[in-house]
Amino acid sequence: FHVPKAVNEPVKTYAPGTPEREEVLLTYKELYNTKFDVPLYIGSEEIRTGKTASINPPHDHKHECGVYHLAEKKHVEQAIETALEARKKWAKLEWEQRAAVFLKAADLISGPYRQKMNAATMIGQSKTIFQAEIDSAAEICDFLRFNVEYMTELYNEQPNSSDGCWNRVEYRPLEGFVYAITPFNFTAIAGNLPSSAALMGNVAVWKPSDSQMLSAQVLMEVFKEAGVPDGVINMVMGDPEMITDTVLKSPDFAGIHYTGSTAVFKNIWAKIGNNIHTYKSYPRIVGETGGKDFIIAHPTSNPKQVATAITRGAFEFQGQKCSAASRVYLPKSLWPEIKDFLVEDVQSIKMGSPEDLTNFFTAVIHERSFDKLASYIDKAKKDDDAEIVVGGNYDKSVGYFVEPTVILAKDPHYTTMEEELFGPVVTIYVYEDDKWEETLHIVDNTSEYALTGAIFSGDRYEAAKATDILQNAAGNFYINDKPTGAVVGQQPFGGARGSGTNDKAGSKLNLMRWISPRLIKETF
Ligand code: ALA
Repeated sequence: FHVPKAVNEPVKTYAPGTPEREEVLLTYKELYNTKFDVPLYIGSEEIRTGKTASINPPHDHKHECGVYHLAEKKHVEQAIETALEARKKWAKLEWEQRAAVFLKAADLISGPYRQKMNAATMIGQSKTIFQAEIDSAAEICDFLRFNVEYMTELYNEQPNSSDGCWNRVEYRPLEGFVYAITPFNFTAIAGNLPSSAALMGNVAVWKPSDSQMLSAQVLMEVFKEAGVPDGVINMVMGDPEMITDTVLKSPDFAGIHYTGSTAVFKNIWAKIGNNIHTYKSYPRIVGETGGKDFIIAHPTSNPKQVATAITRGAFEFQGQKCSAASRVYLPKSLWPEIKDFLVEDVQSIKMGSPEDLTNFFTAVIHERSFDKLASYIDKAKKDDDAEIVVGGNYDKSVGYFVEPTVILAKDPHYTTMEEELFGPVVTIYVYEDDKWEETLHIVDNTSEYALTGAIFSGDRYEAAKATDILQNAAGNFYINDKPTGAVVGQQPFGGARGSGTNDKAGSKLNLMRWISPRLIKETF
């Protein structure tokens, strides 16, 4: 098979004077003043149900950017029927035709749609231009292009044949439809989850997060312009429980591609189990869920490097990454130096609206998240076994702004060392230098999650010891680097334990979950 070799999409700088800077600012202004009216996309139809919810930028929540329409049960059923109808042709299409559609989608995002994708993500999900560029431009293109390459590698794998006997494997889509649920925090995940299943010949019912309505709409525009046939990817939103229950009742439900909270995923898993007798096949269950990601530094590590990793790992993207560093273990001997660097780094973070391209940090996604974070910060202010090292202020009068906050905990099992907060709050525990190994075991046993982790050490033997003891504590493990920022094609991403099924987004492993191979042995 010959497809273009996938390479990572270059990330633009948006430096003063660059054309992309002008373009994104103009597009931002234009979209900000557009009244969006986001429909359900079912087959060729754009359905406006009349029942709507408003779209408000998290950094300016009194401003209404428009509305999105809410599905009723009948619309979800219509989406399933439409998908199954589309499957009849799509599943039979040559793989090159499917690849072409998604390669074109990548080119559209890389080119003419780039700033629309970025601006929609900046406004709707409150991301700075740099966060948006990495997510809704570069990473989506990477997913779309690398998936095509992985698909061709997969299709090339064939069993041995012998004289008079020919064995061949046909890589066919699942029998039924795939349900994709995507979160607000990465537009790229929305770009990947329905499309990777579709690339493998499946049809999808996609439920985006109701906090990503603008970028979800732009993505649907891109898919349509790229030539994804009607009904292959259908977008519905509304009451999540109703949508999921309706989907999971269908006998044709063939799999779920999910990113979101652990609690919701476990609940969905249980529902699938309860419905198991109704399905034609055992559904594929693929999920990437929560995290309580760690950084641990050995006494031989470089204090400046550790401080930078904490700032970037915990606060980039407002800490709203499942991979974000949220519990940190530092040796007593290095703590004073790391603390000085860290306080300086954090105090230099500029917070505000994404419209000002000099801001590094913006609002958290919604009031629920803001209130949750504020309550943990307040608790740390009151508790005797915790103190605020830097940050700790919050204000929701205009937008949901929570300062990047560092908590110091006296107890390695302090609440914020264990619970997932999903925001810009990181907690540090300082261990006695001679308790390194004991602390590694605490890291391993503290959390139900196992998504990402970082170990800092100037001593290779100690780094190796840490990776050994922390065998199952992270699906993505980083040595002398922050635990975030996995790049498609370089660090396949996913975790185990309470963090997911570890089917590595952006890899061949993930695509394998969306096929049902048929082996044919032919004798002559
Ligand atoms: N893939 C994203 C990261 O690694 C979540 O930070």
